Amino acid sequence: MAVQRTQVAIIGAGPAGLLLGRLLELQGIECVILEARGREYCESRIRAGVLEQGARDVLIGAGVGERLQREGIIHGGIYLQLDDQRTHIPMDELTGSSVTIYGQTEVVKDLFDARVAGGAPLLFEAQDVRIEGLESDRPSVHYRHGGLEHELQADFIAGCDGFHGVSRASVPDGVLRLWLREYPFAWLGILADVSPSTDELIYARNARGFALHSMRSHEVSRLYIQVEPGENIAEWSDQRIWEELQLRLATPGWELREGPVFEKSITPMRSFVAAPMRYRSLFLAGDAAHIVPPTGAKGLNLAVGDVACLAEALAEHYRTGDDAGLDTYSDRCLERVWRAQHFSWWMTQMMHLDPGDDAYGTQLAHSQIRYVCNSRAAATSLAENYVGLPFATPLGG
Ligand code: FAD
Ligand code: PHB
Repeated sequence: MAVQRTQVAIIGAGPAGLLLGRLLELQGIECVILEARGREYCESRIRAGVLEQGARDVLIGAGVGERLQREGIIHGGIYLQLDDQRTHIPMDELTGSSVTIYGQTEVVKDLFDARVAGGAPLLFEAQDVRIEGLESDRPSVHYRHGGLEHELQADFIAGCDGFHGVSRASVPDGVLRLWLREYPFAWLGILADVSPSTDELIYARNARGFALHSMRSHEVSRLYIQVEPGENIAEWSDQRIWEELQLRLATPGWELREGPVFEKSITPMRSFVAAPMRYRSLFLAGDAAHIVPPTGAKGLNLAVGDVACLAEALAEHYRTGDDAGLDTYSDRCLERVWRAQHFSWWMTQMMHLDPGDDAYGTQLAHSQIRYVCNSRAAATSLAENYVGLPFATPLGG
């Protein structure tokens, strides 16, 4: 067995693990990142697309924002659409903040490049990763790589391995409290080689269900429609998807441009929180600790918020020996997490057709959309949540 030692062992090379690795590297803290999949797979996993101002600032501060600043598209608002009525919500005017359209795949590529350029350890295709010794002062991560068994001893372990990872499952029974809600619908998403038909994102609801027109660049459109959770993607030809998008996004005097579809997938929708986000020397971050339905565009931003907070707390520990930041990590993250949980749930129930809902529920959702579109106070509340809370995480605050 090959034994290695580091200060922080990071499990998972998604945005949470990679960004944590980067932030620690900048503080001179040693860490090893272990990833179950290959680099190509990680780089091509299509997911989120909207960065809050705070997340953007963290990435720029971490020295990985050069391309983001060049290629990211700043959006000062979104459109909300009920039936064929489309209303602009001017988030920048209401809050002074905006969001940036920049794919998660691009964030991950930028972080991979920075890690490789710095020469810090990042191991792909680590198999059978498991955490041991959490009850002791000598926690370690065991894994197989290149046919050999490895042990990575560390002061701390960061569980950044997503919803299906091993970290959360390594916490003894009875420690974590879990909250879960599953939704009776899913999103079918496409990427298409066609310039977006809108300047800013359109969130639409009509009698056929939810649709979202997003984008990745001035040349690539990202679109979603609400489908049933067990939907078979093989039954959705490109033509059928475009027809449905045309019906759900239609509004007088506007045209949806169609183009070749080059990616198509179905995402389940769930809300989930595990707390506390720490057990002894193990810290959970990102999707390992919480999931939101994508309607509020919060998943990636929460992951960035968690690791910004964790990196600062670890830096304080190594710099001064003060563990106040580590001790309050979970509470400070959960404050933000629950706000995003509520917002994501709220946007989801307002914009989707719930097959279990009655006609009364439908009227309530319609009234809520109209209220947000017509009231400055209600629109400001949506905008404030959409652009996100400030990223500052004052220790002890
Ligand atoms: P992940 O990105 O899941 O990264 C975890 C990493 O850990 C992965 O690379 C995984 O391979 C690795 N890993 C897992 N198990 C192990 C193990 N045992 N050992 C080692 N490594 C392991 N959010 C939005 O805001 N908008 C969206 O449109 C959107 N779409 C999404 C679509 C899908 C299909 C999913 C799953 C999520 C989506 N999200 C979206 C959420 C957003 O992408 C996540 O919140 C974000 O990826 C969280 O980053 P993370 O690093 O915590 O987790
Ligand atoms: C995306 O572009 O993938 C996207 C945008 C906004 C969302 C969810 C996903 O709310």
